Amino acid sequence: MKTSVKKCLFPAAGYGTRFLPATKAIPKEMLPILTKPLLQYGVEEARSAGIDTMAIVTGRGKRAIEDHFDRSYELEHQIDGTPKEELMKEIRDIVKNCTISYTRQVEMKGLGHAILTGETLIGDEPFAVILADDLCDNGDNEPILSQMVKLYAQYQCSIVAVEEVPPKDTNKYGVVAGEFITPDIMRVNNMVEKPEPKDAPSNLAIIGRYILTPDIFDIIREVKPGKGGEIQITDALLEQAKQGKVIAYKFKGKRFDCGSVDGFVQATNYFYAKSNI
Ligand code: UTP
Repeated sequence: MKTSVKKCLFPAAGYGTRFLPATKAIPKEMLPILTKPLLQYGVEEARSAGIDTMAIVTGRGKRAIEDHFDRSYELEHQIDGTPKEELMKEIRDIVKNCTISYTRQVEMKGLGHAILTGETLIGDEPFAVILADDLCDNGDNEPILSQMVKLYAQYQCSIVAVEEVPPKDTNKYGVVAGEFITPDIMRVNNMVEKPEPKDAPSNLAIIGRYILTPDIFDIIREVKPGKGGEIQITDALLEQAKQGKVIAYKFKGKRFDCGSVDGFVQATNYFYAKSNI
């Protein structure tokens, strides 16, 4: 088995119901923060972690995603030699230098199921997962996925990024508990999907960045539908955690839940303040 992380999976098949009607015909992951779609931020974060193979799990509205990560000859011809060319620099670079492949989740049976759908694109190697609606930023410092890829080199086990959330919000997240082995790293021994505050083992919530070892696929296949009737990645990770094979990492940086209107607006304001638009 490979020992370094060279592929990143992007589950992008969810319905995005909190963003209706915007998500009626376009995927939530294509909503822009300023001028850039969420998914492009995710792909850029993966690249900065040394990954250039992207595997995208799509569902409805797949065309917009595929068209975005492709050449657009007419449009590019129009803007060639104009100042607007600059606006296309990053996406052109991605299209030129990355391998991007797609698979389709036919039934929305949850995040665990979406990840399993990506198995054909990943194969038998460790891989990163980015949920593009969790937008992360660490200013000029090391991006979050890159921090995690380095940790993987050291620990060689699954890693979940976590942050402290207000106790009343635990029912929106997978929540972890375990023993800290450094101030930022916990060996996980318990995980619960969306617990009510009174049942939560901590207030450390999993956010949309993971590194997973490929044995997770066989485990997901065995997982029964959990909370909300969905195949939960948290339930599969708990099986690995029971063998001491999951660490939770309190990452350095900021994260915006752009799947919610509130988080989306906060991210927009944050990136606008940083931009020179
Ligand atoms: P969310 O639960 O945040 O996405 O899933 P959602 O279901 O699209 O959003 P709402 O609640 O209806 O507004 C987290 C991520 O997992 C993907 C989503 O696309 C999102 O990136 N996902 C979720 C799948 O790819 N397939 C699924 O069956 C479920």
